[in-house]
Amino acid sequence: MGFIFNLRLLATVLLIVLVTAHRDHQHARHARASLGLKNEAEAESAYWREKAQQTLAAKLESLQAVNTNRAKNVIMFLGDGMSIHTITATRNLLGDSSEKVYFEQFPYTGLSKTYCVNRQVADSACTATAYLGGVKGNYGTIGVNANVPRYNCTAANGEEDHVDSIAKWAQDAGKDAGFVTTARVTHASPAGVYAHTADRNWENDMEVVEGGCNPEETIDIARQLVEWEVGKNLKVILGGGKKNFLNNTVRDEAGQRGYRLDGRNLINEWLAEKQSRNVSANYVWSRKGLQQLDLNKTDYLLGLFANDHLPYDGDRERNHDLSHLADPSLTELTETALKVLQRNENGYFLFVEGARIDMAHHDNYARRSLEDTAEFARAIQKARELTSEEDTLIVVTSDHSHVFSINGYPERTQDITGLSGTLGDDNVPYNILSYANGPGYYASFGQAEGRKVITEKDTKNPLYVSPAMVPLSADTHGGDDVAVFASGPYAQFFSGTYEQANIPALMARAAGIGPYANV
Ligand SMILES: *[C@@H]1O[C@H](CO)[C@@H](O)[C@H](O)[C@H]1NC(C)=O
Ligand SMILES: *[C@@H]1O[C@H](CO)[C@@H](O)[C@H](O)[C@H]1NC(C)=O
Ligand SMILES: *[C@@H]1O[C@H](CO)[C@@H](O)[C@H](O)[C@H]1NC(C)=O
Ligand SMILES: *[C@@H]1O[C@H](CO)[C@@H](O)[C@H](O)[C@H]1NC(C)=O
Ligand SMILES: [Zn+2]
Repeated sequence: MGFIFNLRLLATVLLIVLVTAHRDHQHARHARASLGLKNEAEAESAYWREKAQQTLAAKLESLQAVNTNRAKNVIMFLGDGMSIHTITATRNLLGDSSEKVYFEQFPYTGLSKTYCVNRQVADSACTATAYLGGVKGNYGTIGVNANVPRYNCTAANGEEDHVDSIAKWAQDAGKDAGFVTTARVTHASPAGVYAHTADRNWENDMEVVEGGCNPEETIDIARQLVEWEVGKNLKVILGGGKKNFLNNTVRDEAGQRGYRLDGRNLINEWLAEKQSRNVSANYVWSRKGLQQLDLNKTDYLLGLFANDHLPYDGDRERNHDLSHLADPSLTELTETALKVLQRNENGYFLFVEGARIDMAHHDNYARRSLEDTAEFARAIQKARELTSEEDTLIVVTSDHSHVFSINGYPERTQDITGLSGTLGDDNVPYNILSYANGPGYYASFGQAEGRKVITEKDTKNPLYVSPAMVPLSADTHGGDDVAVFASGPYAQFFSGTYEQANIPALMARAAGIGPYANV
């Protein structure tokens, strides 16, 4: 502290000396820039007082306009692994610390406690049960309470331990439901919408067999999506993961193999089931196919745009020529989903996951994670623009944190994905962004000679792996709380600190559906 204080004092003295010596305005500007000022107006107290006035005026106005309309529609946005640090760092990616990531403009913010029944640090499976079904379960399990231990082949078969999701409550109330994800549609978070399983990995029958279970007794997640009541009634299913729908002797449109062993083609079965009900259903697998759909005539939509996950958004942009043919953005998928769901005059529940924020963090790809967070925010902005705050509640949150931190005392003008601007005690530069663990350990530590020397040029590469303290093939999630942002009817419910498992109750009460409709 003392050192910093003295540095500030020194800098202030330097500024005064400079300004006096060169009354020329240009020189003052230069001196301030050298102090790391990004916006000169911030040097004046009036700037901050004016901002405070604006915030206060908005707060006073919100007292007059508490929205207790019934939420006809509910949209839940889940930034997988989107810790508060991730949001903060994304502001810088967007230009500066003073930026707001779109959903930070929402009037109400709260904190969600993410632990699961048997773990302090959660995964995307047990948390999906919490934020979609309102009950906490065991790590690795989905749509079941904690009576179901992970990996037990049959323990999830008892309906008494099933946890229904808010998608079912919406369907039971005559609304439509659907989901969008950049992961496989059978991945842990979206599976929370429709599945009940003792292991998140049982996405296809091959994985059930590998888990030592009988696939006739333990129904895989892809089959649950196509065959079971909630899944087969979803109006919109958009994401990746074709491999879980096709036999391993069958190749998809891009020539990649399926993973199934049972010979079934679940895409064809999905279409056949809709035909048997005489409803209009479309399956698409490319961005072009999506654009050619007549959404006004589509009752059911299945879009599987990749054999596995969809690409990182930054990569989609960087490989524009190729991706233009293949991959829709999360924003485009969200817009499509809303156009299909908006046709139900009773309203809808839509779940949208920005899945790869988490996956980039696991690989210590800080920049890619922030790029995906920026795209996630664009999708939310699109949804808010296409809907009304009068009748549509939007809730934005995350399932769990990551061990990702923002370090040093970088100047405001520095790119957050770069170096902190000072040296460690080992005389080697260090990054602003780093991880407590993960594969970045190997990139940042030499064998015997301590930390490897890094340059700003290294950090500019989008594939740059940020440093990590503990060597691990993937970074772990973090156990700290995640934020919740809300806009629309009953958004005020979402302020404060509460259990992640309270979120579905708050959304359902706002919409007047499910077991909390009449609380
Ligand atoms: C698995 O769950 C079933 C049903 O709940 C139970 O009877 C059985 O003992 C469990 N098996 C193991 C190995 O825990
Ligand atoms: C599905 O794949 C398995 C494993 O490769 C194979 O043994 C089986 O014959 C295939 N089924 C059909 C119907 O193609
Ligand atoms: C299916 O729907 C079409 C158009 O709504 C209708 O003309 C036809 O009679 C229906 N067929 C059956 C078998 O319900
Ligand atoms: C679809 O329906 C919307 C709303 O009724 C209408 O504005 C739009 O023009 C329609 N689009 C097509 C392609 O028919
Ligand atoms: Zn994860």
